Amino acid sequence: MRFCLSAAVLATVVLGALGSPAPRAAMRLHEKRKELPSGFVNKGAAAADTMIDMRIALKMADRDGLEAALFDVSTPSSANYGKHLTKDEVKAFASPSAETLSTVSDWLSAEGIAFDVGGSYDNWLTFSVPVSKANELLDASYETFLHTPTDSSQVRTLAYSLPEALAGHINAVYPTTSIVKPRTPGPVRVFDAPPSLAADVNVTADAVPASCSSTITPACLQALYGIPATPATQSSNHLGVSGYISQYAQKSDLTRFLSLLRKDISSSTSFTLETLDGGSNPQGTSYAGIEANLDIQYTVGVATGVPVYFISVGTNNQDGVSGFIDIVDYLEAEDAPPQVLTTSYGFDEADLGSSLATEICDSYMTLGARGVSVLFSSGDGGVSGGQSQSCRTFQGAFPGTCPYITAVGGTVNVPETAVDFSSGGFSQYFNRTDYQADAVEAYLDTLGSTNQGLYVATGRGFPDVAAMGDNVEIVYQGQTGLIGGTSASSPIFASVVSLLNDQLIAAGKSPLGFLNPWVYENPQAFNDITSGSNPGCNTDGFPAVAGWDPVTGMGTPNFSQMLAAAGL
Ligand SMILES: *[C@@H]1O[C@H](CO)[C@@H](O)[C@H](O)[C@H]1NC(C)=O
Ligand SMILES: *[C@@H]1O[C@H](CO)[C@@H](O)[C@H](O)[C@H]1NC(C)=O
Ligand SMILES: *[C@@H]1O[C@H](CO)[C@@H](O)[C@H](O)[C@H]1NC(C)=O
Repeated sequence: MRFCLSAAVLATVVLGALGSPAPRAAMRLHEKRKELPSGFVNKGAAAADTMIDMRIALKMADRDGLEAALFDVSTPSSANYGKHLTKDEVKAFASPSAETLSTVSDWLSAEGIAFDVGGSYDNWLTFSVPVSKANELLDASYETFLHTPTDSSQVRTLAYSLPEALAGHINAVYPTTSIVKPRTPGPVRVFDAPPSLAADVNVTADAVPASCSSTITPACLQALYGIPATPATQSSNHLGVSGYISQYAQKSDLTRFLSLLRKDISSSTSFTLETLDGGSNPQGTSYAGIEANLDIQYTVGVATGVPVYFISVGTNNQDGVSGFIDIVDYLEAEDAPPQVLTTSYGFDEADLGSSLATEICDSYMTLGARGVSVLFSSGDGGVSGGQSQSCRTFQGAFPGTCPYITAVGGTVNVPETAVDFSSGGFSQYFNRTDYQADAVEAYLDTLGSTNQGLYVATGRGFPDVAAMGDNVEIVYQGQTGLIGGTSASSPIFASVVSLLNDQLIAAGKSPLGFLNPWVYENPQAFNDITSGSNPGCNTDGFPAVAGWDPVTGMGTPNFSQMLAAAGL
């Protein structure tokens, strides 16, 4: 809906322009950034007439009620386990109250701003204003921040305020204090030594082919984790793979991948494209994206028979942060969103800032409540995240640090050990939730004083689980090669969840939905990874140990144990 200025409001604006400004309400600081992320320099005030597309996130009518409902349907011991909410049930929690909507609307109208109400739950107000107006509206000082390594700029403010009367109605305003490093695809090691194709391996129930120590293929994953190769049967069971930053999944590469590494299924098995924000998926060698190819090959090639959807988020969303917001709205609008969503892109938590990270994190509750398992790779920078190795404090990767998603760390080798780039640690914004309290506190007890002061010990610990993340064979531009990154781990784990959901749905049961309470209640369903660590910031990072650890979480999948834990 579009709100128009009333005549009375216009009159106020005109009077103001004649030199008798309306008295301004008292302002309260909403967020302030202490320092710039590494790689940025401040180039000074932004031109007054530069237009900014702004969004205001309105407070949910009952955010705590939604959180309680999410845990109620996701905790196995709960009577309501698996009774996921409908779109309308979520809407009752997630929409702003009438008071919130009118209070914030009245403010913008009084400021002479025409805006739209957007989002699946009418939870965003969007509008465009020049920098001069944004500065005045938010007591802000918009400046241009140049990211020198990529020579790209963002117009942001180091602090902003809101009228005191609005503080309880607004979660976040974007773009304000988030200053985000331009993202590059996740894989850290690409095709430096394209291997000859792994021999045609024969998989048996009790033997992992020796070649899996150096080259991971779908057959290795089937052997290591006990993943069935038999096709899934439920056409209503969807696996969503998100794509960003013009990463395009190539069908010809997928066909070659399947013909080489999944000889037992049709090499023409493919995926369905969905797009938002002007997204697309052009085909042709020059369009091939390593990340997108990896994500598609290790879903279509592992979640045998599960309908896979490549959801390409386009670039009509400024710096890509908006795309993370828009995909949630896009999926919430569907009557039957995919039961699993995997994403191998993310940010340093501190780049986003607390209010925007919290807003996006809370939006994942709406998906989880509806029965969607939302998975993200944990990141590839060890404990330093996207910072340089000279970092002074550890940096968590968002959305991995969000407590309402499942973060997937990485492993390497057979037998598995933590891979050293697997990001993990503790959030500086989000508290530890009950579902992981025992597991994380046991870890902190064994850790003792190691790394003290470099992380927030009360924060949400991540990742939650792990899967193979290095020496993973893909096809790119027609050639085979190996990649490394937790970018591989998330689609692999997501595929396992989708295959479990297939059997649950076939048995007339609910899909797993938000996974974490179930994961932490079922340690026996995972291969505990007890060696390796994730160095960074001139430290050894965190060690992987028996039980949960901030490198590999609760461990890697054991399909038959997970099936039993799911009640099958
Ligand atoms: C796989 O099994 C087939 C049939 O038993 C056999 O001919 C082939 O040599 C085996 N391949 C490997 C790599 O062990
Ligand atoms: C799964 O766990 C069971 C019980 O510990 C074990 O016997 C089995 O070998 C495991 N399966 C795989 C594929 O690791
Ligand atoms: C985290 O816990 C502290 C102490 O209980 C509380 O003051 C704070 O508001 C909590 N933060 C969040 C984001 O819930």
